[in-house]
Amino acid sequence: MPSLRGEDLVTPHQEVAALPIIPEREFALRTVDLTRYFYGRRGLLSQLKRPPIPIRAVDGVNLTIQREEILGLVGESSCGKSTVVRLIAGLLKPSGGEILYRSGTVQPSTTLVAYPDSTEHGSIEVLHVEKLQGESIKFYRSQVSLIFQDPFSSFDPRFTVRGILEEPLSVHGVAEKERRGLIEEILEETRLTPVSEFLDRYPHTLSGGQRQRLGIARALVLDPRMVIADEPVSMLDVAIRAQILELLLEERRKRRISMLFATHDLSAARQICDRLVVMYLGKLVEEGLTADVIQSPAHPYTLALIAAVPDPEPANRSRIIDLPIKGEIPSALEVPSGCRFHPRCPYAGEQCRVEEPPPIKIDDNHYSACWFAEKVKCGVAP
Ligand SMILES: Nc1ncnc2c1ncn2[C@@H]1O[C@H](COP(=O)(O)OP(=O)(O)O)[C@@H](O)[C@H]1O
Ligand code: SF4
Ligand SMILES: [Mg+2]
Repeated sequence: MPSLRGEDLVTPHQEVAALPIIPEREFALRTVDLTRYFYGRRGLLSQLKRPPIPIRAVDGVNLTIQREEILGLVGESSCGKSTVVRLIAGLLKPSGGEILYRSGTVQPSTTLVAYPDSTEHGSIEVLHVEKLQGESIKFYRSQVSLIFQDPFSSFDPRFTVRGILEEPLSVHGVAEKERRGLIEEILEETRLTPVSEFLDRYPHTLSGGQRQRLGIARALVLDPRMVIADEPVSMLDVAIRAQILELLLEERRKRRISMLFATHDLSAARQICDRLVVMYLGKLVEEGLTADVIQSPAHPYTLALIAAVPDPEPANRSRIIDLPIKGEIPSALEVPSGCRFHPRCPYAGEQCRVEEPPPIKIDDNHYSACWFAEKVKCGVAP
């Protein structure tokens, strides 16, 4: 959540994080002040009368995905998770800010720049995802792949399992004679077995769990360095959900990939994520190691999210105050002044209505954008 650039962090508040969480050389992907606004369609006449009001879907997001970690992006529906996913995947252009992908491989591309590294290692190479074009888009797509919430609607129903897996391989120039081996290998790995029984099946003949396994197989067939998953288990029932989460964990270990896992389901995020960032109305409000965020939340919104999910561990239940928050998430068309959570927050004071809280360091690797973060973390009731 803290910004990459020191100057953005200059603020009179002493506790504000002055350093990025992760050493520069560790990051796999980072967003810097990332914004994406949408504008509704209106007639010319009404546009002349009044300038269009933006839907601030993503409103200044600084997040870092570390190498080989699973970062959870959690928050209620409509908070902006899918927009962040689409921006990072390069499917949508940002309104502002940067997305820096650390490729680790020098590519002949105009978008490759030397980015100043604060460590003694000199400079590091990053791809500016927001500027990708031509060959560098293709390279990026081979490195960073997507898993969708509903794999069924993302498969072309005319393609068999073999065809679905063959498509990315042929687009990326993998020789025909190698494709069969790679397809069989990935089906074996994602347990769509016996392979021979799946190769010629169509997606509509697969169960929900098998379809999501195929979605994972398709995301991994090019051996990417990073996977971005948008609500990958939210359409599955509980037993299948656990198996898919286990498969994702296994693939991360085996392939040593980084992963962004966007979900409204805190219990799923808790099971597989190393770190969490909590998003509210287009902004990140808390960031930390999963255990720290779940056991000692330092933002009232996170507290409310946790209180809504019963902890299977009885010993933990009493630690979290049951915090009823008021009303529903407001529209991204009308972002409240000051702290955008203030109309719903039981802790809100006068300062909250006028001043937006910056990310405040609570502990090592733990940040909260709340003026009363310490109080919340210590479990003091509002
Ligand atoms: N293409 C679009 N046009 C207009 N508004 C959009 C568009 N995509 C998303 N939004 C709005 O942006 C906000 C964030 O949406 P989204 O990123 O889908 O959230 P989430 O994935 O957390 O549910 C919502 O208010 C949504 O209505
Ligand atoms: S800054 Fe104020 S309104 Fe915002 S979460 Fe903290 S206490 Fe609540
Ligand atoms: Mg979504």
